[in-house]
Amino acid sequence: MDHNVVSPHGSHLLSSFNADWNLSVQELVATESNKKQEAVSGLHQACLEAGLDRGSLVIGFGGGITGDVSGFTAATFLRGISLVLIPTTLLAMVDAAVGGKTGVNLPLPGGQGLGKNLAGAFWQPQAVLIDPLVLSTLSERDLRCGLAECIKHGFIGDPGLLELIHENRDSILAADPLAITDLVERALRVKIGVIEEDERETGGRAALNFGHTFGHGMESVERLELRHGEAVAIGMIAATQCAFELGRVGPEMVDQAREIVQSVGLPHQLPEPVDVHQLMSAMQFDKKTLDGHLRLVLPGDHGVEIVTEVPAQAVESAWAAVGASC
Ligand code: GLY
Repeated sequence: MDHNVVSPHGSHLLSSFNADWNLSVQELVATESNKKQEAVSGLHQACLEAGLDRGSLVIGFGGGITGDVSGFTAATFLRGISLVLIPTTLLAMVDAAVGGKTGVNLPLPGGQGLGKNLAGAFWQPQAVLIDPLVLSTLSERDLRCGLAECIKHGFIGDPGLLELIHENRDSILAADPLAITDLVERALRVKIGVIEEDERETGGRAALNFGHTFGHGMESVERLELRHGEAVAIGMIAATQCAFELGRVGPEMVDQAREIVQSVGLPHQLPEPVDVHQLMSAMQFDKKTLDGHLRLVLPGDHGVEIVTEVPAQAVESAWAAVGASC
């Protein structure tokens, strides 16, 4: 259970289980710096002490970090036991909890910060239970972070979703359950469609990483204190600028990305300048890098797709457009 939801929702969740269930509750400090192998080892040990066997179930209750860590625990304990996820953030509802990605961060060589999700496994949950009412206790900042992934889904496969977000942003940011239900259903339709085509990310699923390679570059700079959704929001603008540099899209597409991000109050540039070389070096550790060549998910005539061997100059210009220092 995510430490953030113990107080607002923990007892409600626990009281909803059958009284004869043999429950062991573990609290996870759900921060990026604690999303590491040691957290999974601790949970493995707790599974052992609680006597879990291959018929047991791990329930991950919380945000995306909790889902990833509890999912990786379930994927690896006794070589894999059942998993159910109950996401409690908008970001986890529309993205992290669905699709079977689990994992932890690794420290990058030479003290270059955190490498996001570099150890993990694909492990599908048996079920994902979504209750929009839990979002009533989520901060507006975290709701915005979830909106970043919804915007991503709009760019990938449903332009009407961008309109829905624009028109309903006040009720979404007020966590109105009806507005949230519409949003989650619509955003999930895009994600599920992509995953049904390519569960293991051998091709089209990479589109779901739109904005993420740039985003992971920013997230490795811990002093920026960017949340994942905020880094993805800036990352989508940088990726669109990069596509513009390569002649894949016109300037209006960069404007559209910037406008929708700004309209929901997400950051559209780095909170402080960061050396472009540091950011580019962190991008090299992205999982999409192949044989040392940077591969980016960029928009173009045929939608969002993976582009190989992107010239460093275009990447630098993209970083400069979101405030990196060159
Ligand atoms: N969040 C990206 C994916 O599920 O593939």
